[in-house]
Amino acid sequence: MSPTRESPVPLVVDQLIDDRRTRIIVCCGSGGVGKTTIAAAVGLRAAERGRHVVVLTVDPARRLAQSMGLTSLDNTPRPVTGVRTGGAAPGTMHAMMLDMKRTFDEIVESHADPDRAAQILANPFYQSLSSSFAGTQEYMAMEKLGQLRRADEWDLIVVDTPPSRSALDFLDAPQRLGRFLDGRLLRLLVAPARFGGRTGMKVLNAGFGMVTGVVTKIIGSQLLRDVQTFVSAMDTMFGGFRERAEYTYRLLRAPGTAFLVIAAPEPDALREASYFVERLERDGMPLGGLILNRVHRSPAARLSAARSLAAAEMLQGLTESESSELGITALRLHAERMRQADSERRLGRRFTAAHPLVPVAQVPAQPDDVHDLHGLRVVGAAFGPDGQP
Ligand SMILES: Nc1ncnc2c1ncn2[C@@H]1O[C@H](COP(=O)(O)OP(=O)(O)OP(=O)(O)O)[C@@H](O)[C@H]1O
Ligand SMILES: [Mg+2]
Repeated sequence: MSPTRESPVPLVVDQLIDDRRTRIIVCCGSGGVGKTTIAAAVGLRAAERGRHVVVLTVDPARRLAQSMGLTSLDNTPRPVTGVRTGGAAPGTMHAMMLDMKRTFDEIVESHADPDRAAQILANPFYQSLSSSFAGTQEYMAMEKLGQLRRADEWDLIVVDTPPSRSALDFLDAPQRLGRFLDGRLLRLLVAPARFGGRTGMKVLNAGFGMVTGVVTKIIGSQLLRDVQTFVSAMDTMFGGFRERAEYTYRLLRAPGTAFLVIAAPEPDALREASYFVERLERDGMPLGGLILNRVHRSPAARLSAARSLAAAEMLQGLTESESSELGITALRLHAERMRQADSERRLGRRFTAAHPLVPVAQVPAQPDDVHDLHGLRVVGAAFGPDGQP
């Protein structure tokens, strides 16, 4: 059946995870839409269907982390207990929390000799960059993904992405960090330190003296010195950073990768999802599909909002007993729920009209937060062929 404006192509996530050629699934989307939850649910479902999975999470809620055996931020994949691994070829699940600072330190240690590495790690500028520069977390998530892939211990890596304002940050961060480290301002700043010596300084003084003078006023001389030593120490690593970013980009473009774009059925999240889908296409990155998370459905969907409200009005006019009060409240709540479901459906249809070929899966809103393996399993039920609209 060809897709129409009304009905999207169903996304059956199980097909994706059962296909052994799928090696990386990246869950992205704007803030708070359920990336971490869906990544964990995909990981669990895949392990319970026989895959050897590692889930790389970023900042999971504490109870969810605990349920996956993650009690400390140590950048190490931990086995998840409680995974149901029946069948002839039982799967396994590991999970880890991304420690951004530790990952950055590891890169420095693997690229610089021990003295230089120690110098960089102790540099206050490095310390603030490695823990707070916008984009560092995204970059480090990519870096960690590259490391996990190289380790080749798992046949499926599920990646959660950082809580960025915009989903696109994840794709832009490595370049942005590269630009920053390569940046002309930093190169200018480092120049005096590199040229050193009297002749060098004489040549440089006229131009750079002015630049560094202004910069010193803005950021202070101690910080300027920190920046200079940091950048000259990092200089040897520029190539390394770029190479690694390119390696990860290649991984993301490879046929074994699938992006799942997660969105709540709300205008802002779906707008972000649209941008992201278009960007993936432009960058030649493989899109698995859209997951609409926290969708509201009503078990009594045959009673429309309008009829429900009309019934409430009628009851109101008839009696004033306590039980009819209750009935009226229930009818109004139902009407509200139906309105919400209608508006979510409309938004979904609008997305599909703009992107008719993007497969869509829907994950119902659970009554409570998803914080244990049972909850993840319930979410994962939407990944089968029956879970779809
Ligand atoms: N289908 C669902 N039903 C009910 N609650 C859900 C569902 N999906 C996610 N949640 C809850 O919503 C909250 C946010 O989810 P989650 O942490 O996965 O979002 P996120 O996109 O990773 O957020 P951030 O951008 O901050 O990283 C959590 O408390 C989670 O338990
Ligand atoms: Mg998250």
